[in-house]
Amino acid sequence: MSEMRPIQNLALIGFMGTGKSAVGRLVAQLLHFTYLDTDQVIESRAHKTIREIFEQEGEPVFRNWEQLIVGELTQRTETVISTGGGLPIHQPNMDSLKKHSLVVCLWATAETIYERVCAHDHRPLLQDTDPSSRIRELLAVREPFYRQADVLINTERRSIREVAVQVIHQFHMAQAAQ
Ligand code: S3P
Repeated sequence: MSEMRPIQNLALIGFMGTGKSAVGRLVAQLLHFTYLDTDQVIESRAHKTIREIFEQEGEPVFRNWEQLIVGELTQRTETVISTGGGLPIHQPNMDSLKKHSLVVCLWATAETIYERVCAHDHRPLLQDTDPSSRIRELLAVREPFYRQADVLINTERRSIREVAVQVIHQFHMAQAAQ
């Protein structure tokens, strides 16, 4: 980690389909932390699904929601935060998460991501005639942001539990270094 800062929480970032929600829920359970999923918070506040927000109001409105929720997270302690895949691409969101959380990025290749997400249709950004190319494009644009995470964890050929154990190990190491 580049600088000393209070690590109260754990924030999981990464592309769609890298397992942020599944890993985050397990990590929260194992650490006895609260689990918070930014997409879920937005859906319950907006009384709409993410897909409906994109369709009816457009992506910028969704991104505003993300910024609002990120701003509220600064008061949190002992929380595992699972973020939407595009949330850290707005630099102030990333900077804000780093003020209170160890930021862990879950990584997978575009091919693996495609295999994991192709059966699901709730992700508006992948409603494309060629989702595989769309994933590669988006991943290339986003990679420099994801690489700003404190820790990058490869999820290829690893179970949810294996990834969760690694996340927790990194969290304990970061806390011990404080
Ligand atoms: C998005 C990822 C989604 C959700 C929205 C936009 C993105 O979350 O926030 O569909 O921009 O990558 P997941 O990463 O949990 O699928």
